[in-house]
Amino acid sequence: MKTVEIRNMNKRFGSTIALNNVSFEAYEGEILGLIGENGSGKSTATSIYAGMQKCDSGEMLFMGNPWNPSSMNDALKKGVGMIVQENGTVPGVSVAENIFLSESQRFKKGPFVDRKRMINEAQTALNQIGADHISASQVTAMLDFQDRKLIEIAKVMANNPKVLVVDETTTALSQKGRDIIYAIMEKMKKENGTVIFISHDLDEIMHVCDRLTVLRDGSIITTFNKAEFDEDAIKTSMIGRELSGSYYRDDYGDPAGEEVVLKAENLCHTNQLDHFSFELHKGEILGIGGLSHCGMHTLGKVLFAAEKCESGEFSVHGKKVNTIAEAMKMQMGYVAKDRDTESLNTEASIKDNIAIAGLDKFAVSGFLILPGNEKKYVQKQIDGLSIKCTGADQYVSALSGGNKQKVAFGKWLGRESEILILDCPTRGVDIGVKQAMYQLMYRMRQEGKSILLISEEMAELIGMSDRILVMKDGALKKELFRSKELSEADVIQYMI
Ligand SMILES: Nc1ncnc2c1ncn2[C@@H]1O[C@H](COP(=O)(O)OP(=O)(O)OP(=O)(O)O)[C@@H](O)[C@H]1O
Ligand SMILES: [Mg+2]
Repeated sequence: MKTVEIRNMNKRFGSTIALNNVSFEAYEGEILGLIGENGSGKSTATSIYAGMQKCDSGEMLFMGNPWNPSSMNDALKKGVGMIVQENGTVPGVSVAENIFLSESQRFKKGPFVDRKRMINEAQTALNQIGADHISASQVTAMLDFQDRKLIEIAKVMANNPKVLVVDETTTALSQKGRDIIYAIMEKMKKENGTVIFISHDLDEIMHVCDRLTVLRDGSIITTFNKAEFDEDAIKTSMIGRELSGSYYRDDYGDPAGEEVVLKAENLCHTNQLDHFSFELHKGEILGIGGLSHCGMHTLGKVLFAAEKCESGEFSVHGKKVNTIAEAMKMQMGYVAKDRDTESLNTEASIKDNIAIAGLDKFAVSGFLILPGNEKKYVQKQIDGLSIKCTGADQYVSALSGGNKQKVAFGKWLGRESEILILDCPTRGVDIGVKQAMYQLMYRMRQEGKSILLISEEMAELIGMSDRILVMKDGALKKELFRSKELSEADVIQYMI
């Protein structure tokens, strides 16, 4: 039986045609993959179905009946839940309040809210998805990106949806988080529900999905059944041409320079960093891997002086760095994992986001900004990273998830930073652009720049790094060197 049916759906945003006559369906007991390049319309189509926004024209059915949810909450109550690509929690309130947002009526006790019952029920929802390490009474802002995602999942699953949309969630999660989602998806499938799964990780998608529908520029291109899954055929249908050249760098036996550009000694920070020391060399891509709470994301923040450590110190070219301004002066750049809150100002234009980091690059004699220079500088990044937008003045909030990520990357790229700290830089980016980003990173390395690549993707770490430091509980667990023989299992054994 068909659960989801979308017929001839159209959606425009100003001059952008986000959806062009889109039709597809999903059945009971299946996991349907939805893939396509950044900006192809995946989030738009699914979020309309989940009640987040309206289409301009088209028809939707749920279990064979007309479907027109008035809001996401309305859709969820009626059986369609979505885990959104962006951050879907409110930071300033408790975990329980996020889970039962807009349901406070349910917990009314006279004029008051029965907080105890609400917290209990929220904790049950968390425990049920296997996220019992999160306390329902905690303030959400204290939690990291992964745990905040798990709260959204608990909220959706507490409503027992018939249809679940998972939008590009897994690339932001560590293996533990991913396993939680996979388990939920399998369970839904077994119980005759439907999952619509969006991801840019082809291996993952081919592994978990039963069918695969491909979108390109707002149009449906084709649908593959599991038996027809073929990596090259899927890639070609996504980008409309064959993807040639290697994905990661393919050189071995070309060691980085000897010169130390960044040196960290005995960094300690709450329970995130435990006497962590390392050196980054000129022309080196240094990978940092570990489980999501191993401290590697904190390390990135500390090195850009975006967070203070309690003891220990680090220096760049022998000079101590205490503030972000000093870090930038030392030609450092930082792409944070949580791009929407830490790397970008989404309520500003692409131009302003990219230009801010590059000010000193196009300003004449340090302060005079020539609009022509600024424009050229920004356009270069838009073209280089094929950022899909209506122009440099478009607000970042209007971009698709992957295109936001490209802005965060372009911001530091254009500045020709000497040292780049990249925390999950290719998150949510499609395969074509991912390849381009890897090539850029390699070119920077060849130019003698240094990159600290913090990543939860083993293949990326192994494929790109000269050296990998594996972290566990805030400390250095193992140093591994670039080699053809290095396997994912070789790295993972030191993480757990
Ligand atoms: N609120 C908005 N205002 C203006 N344009 C928008 C808005 N939301 C989406 N768009 C545009 O619609 C198109 C489709 O975007 P959508 O977010 O659906 O892409 P996507 O396939 O989910 O991409 P990604 O893989 O990067 O997440 C893009 O060109 C995007 O810029
Ligand atoms: Mg999207």
